[in-house]
Amino acid sequence: MALERTFSIVKPDATNRNLTGAINAMLEAGGLRIVAQKRIHITKAQAGVFYAVHAERPFFDELCEFMSSAPIVVQVLEGENAILLNREIMGATNPADADEGTIRKTYALSLGENSVHGSDAPETAAEEIAYFFAGLELVG
Ligand code: CDP
Ligand code: MG
Repeated sequence: MALERTFSIVKPDATNRNLTGAINAMLEAGGLRIVAQKRIHITKAQAGVFYAVHAERPFFDELCEFMSSAPIVVQVLEGENAILLNREIMGATNPADADEGTIRKTYALSLGENSVHGSDAPETAAEEIAYFFAGLELVG
């Protein structure tokens, strides 16, 4: 399989606890290269666009409130099979279900405040990267 890129977020619960470096170390140790990264503070409306697929879910408002509550670190990760590999390194959405050694098992506070986001498919990875990064930021 060729090199692939995926989109990742270090969420507010993790930036609040100064866990960006620790999470990045787990991503890198797992075989992913951080090829673009920036720390930003998004609005609730911007979070709503990003999570539009969940707009009808009961947790949507709380999720958008949380994602706009503090800075996040948005990233583009590159590696062989990067989308699936990142999901494995992250662990299950609910930390109670996540495997030992995963980011969410190690650091997540709850189902909602679960420390990281990762794209789930090639189409969403491309869309999510394009939502947060301009072409010039993605060279190299
Ligand atoms: O992030 P992931 O792709 O693993 O899960 P998702 O099903 O796409 O949900 C997106 C995010 O919504 C999760 O990471 C949680 O932060 C939040 N969520 C929640 O608060 N309550 C749920 N029952 C499901 C998801
Ligand atoms: Mg998802």
